[in-house]
Amino acid sequence: MPETLTITDNRTGKSYEISIADGTIRASDLRQIKVDANDFGLMSYDPAFMNTASCKSSITYLDGDAGILRYRGYPIEQLAEQSTYLEVAYLLLHGELPNQTELAAWQHSITTHTFVHEFLKRALEGYRYDAHPMGRLVAFLATLSTFYTDAKRVREPEIRMQHVVRIIAKMPTIAAWAFRHSLGRPYVYPNNDLGYCGNFLAMLFQIAEPKYKVNPVLERALDVLFILHADHEQNCSTSAARGVGSAESDPYVALAAASAALYGPLHGGANEAVLRMLKKIGSVKEIPAFIESVKHGDGKLMGFGHRVYKNYDPRAKVIKKLADDVFEVTGRNPLLDIALELEKIALSDEYFIKRKLYPNVDFYSGLIYQAMGFPVEMFPVLFAIPRASGWLSQWSEMLDDPEQKISRPRQIYTGTDVRNYVPIAKR
Ligand code: SDX
Repeated sequence: MPETLTITDNRTGKSYEISIADGTIRASDLRQIKVDANDFGLMSYDPAFMNTASCKSSITYLDGDAGILRYRGYPIEQLAEQSTYLEVAYLLLHGELPNQTELAAWQHSITTHTFVHEFLKRALEGYRYDAHPMGRLVAFLATLSTFYTDAKRVREPEIRMQHVVRIIAKMPTIAAWAFRHSLGRPYVYPNNDLGYCGNFLAMLFQIAEPKYKVNPVLERALDVLFILHADHEQNCSTSAARGVGSAESDPYVALAAASAALYGPLHGGANEAVLRMLKKIGSVKEIPAFIESVKHGDGKLMGFGHRVYKNYDPRAKVIKKLADDVFEVTGRNPLLDIALELEKIALSDEYFIKRKLYPNVDFYSGLIYQAMGFPVEMFPVLFAIPRASGWLSQWSEMLDDPEQKISRPRQIYTGTDVRNYVPIAKR
């Protein structure tokens, strides 16, 4: 059978053969379908890109119905079990798992770029102590770009990779310093003797002790959470990074745009919204009334639902298991009882079943973050730090894709026809 679509335009009776490749047709092949020579030709209309592939990518594979997530072919469950975040970042960026030598060199390059320009400390002082850390992260990523005059040389692989390393290395430092500034605590400088997550925990929580004692259970839990959040194909924030990057802006501002998108409560801001929702519910006995309010359209069940997953988010399964390990150390988060009961009731309620709404990555992650001592405002920042390697991999893939160019969608114009200007005296 030919891999083609035969389209008959009933306005003209003409037929067209459109080729099918990778389960798609090229939207540009529709332009030949015209009613006359002056016709622009057909376009496709797809608000929010519900059914449109914007690119070809070999980085992450999702199967929403089966609840499958793979980075470069490796199942997320195996990576969460056996890998580390830095190794996964290498995998996303280079396409293969590193060998010992490559991993050691990669870890060294990240470790030796964790410091940020001292000016950023003064920039931090310009914010109120209670400024949301995501707003500061967006600003600091854009500010970082002003330190590197070669950042826009994105077509030069060596220079591109230098900035990729700088961003992955500096995100934890920026995030930790924003956290310390909000508490009025002195900044803790990066400690190159510690691993990526251990160093982050030290910069966050070290007080007067000369050497921060990293709890290995919490360090591993954070590493697994970072693996789970590293990439997720063409989500809203990745599309923002690709869009801004397509103009050949530098990676810092492309990730500032991506962080801004992630900040939204429908996206990476959902983990913060889940905790606020659980606190608002307050107790297990209030859950039925809350579920009814959601079903009547009074807000959403945050941490539930997904554009792609119409099954349980595989990341939520791993996080749910991880919570037990963390609570062994930190003590059980009492809000977990509400979350577990909420999930149980929602998964048996027709409203959620019919809409295929399951817990997503954000439903349980916040419970762990809170138990580890993070305020809810930091939760989206903890999403952005690991997602930086996914954003950078997707951004880099876009730059190397010969089919990609500056992103500029078309529109359906619904405004008024031409009209003449009316001087104000006559309005
Ligand atoms: C992330 O894309 C990614 O990959 C994102 C992400 C990643 O790793 O990058 O996975 C991270 O963003 C996870 C999602 C976190 N967001 C939330 O938890 C916020 C709550 N969820 C919803 O806002 C919603 O489910 C979305 C935004 C996640 C998905 O929205 P869609 O695909 O546009 O679906 P929709 O809004 O059209 O919903 C379809 C129906 C609607 O009901 P009806 O109009 O048919 O009556 O389901 C309802 C919605 O009202 N619905 C919900 C709901 N989510 C959808 N109803 C109650 N609670 C919810 N959470």
